[in-house]
Amino acid sequence: MTIENLNTYETVASENVKIWFKAAATSKFPKNGGACIKYKDKQIAVFNFTREDTWYACQNLCPHKMEMVLSRGMIGEENMEAKVACPLHKNTFSLQTGENLNGSLKAIATYPVKVENGFVYVGFSD
Ligand code: FES
Repeated sequence: MTIENLNTYETVASENVKIWFKAAATSKFPKNGGACIKYKDKQIAVFNFTREDTWYACQNLCPHKMEMVLSRGMIGEENMEAKVACPLHKNTFSLQTGENLNGSLKAIATYPVKVENGFVYVGFSD
């Protein structure tokens, strides 16, 4: 993995969504867990946060050791903010802002998610 891989991922604000990519049926995502989807050259971790009745999406790439692992991370909450802990070395990231909550790693990119008629859509700007 190189820096170019990291630059593949940029946060998309909901007002900048141009494409709602149909990812998969909601039933494909474990409750209170994540799964990885692919869009173009991106691997995106999508989380079904059942406890909050909310969905989140972020880059699957952990910026710590450039591993494609975040979809397998544990999700939880810290100060009312949803977060994911990388399964490898437990660095944690906000699923709302992407910020690294326990250190100074580069923030991860986050993406809007919507659910319609039993399908999960992730928003991209290109
Ligand atoms: S690779 Fe994610 S915390 Fe180390």
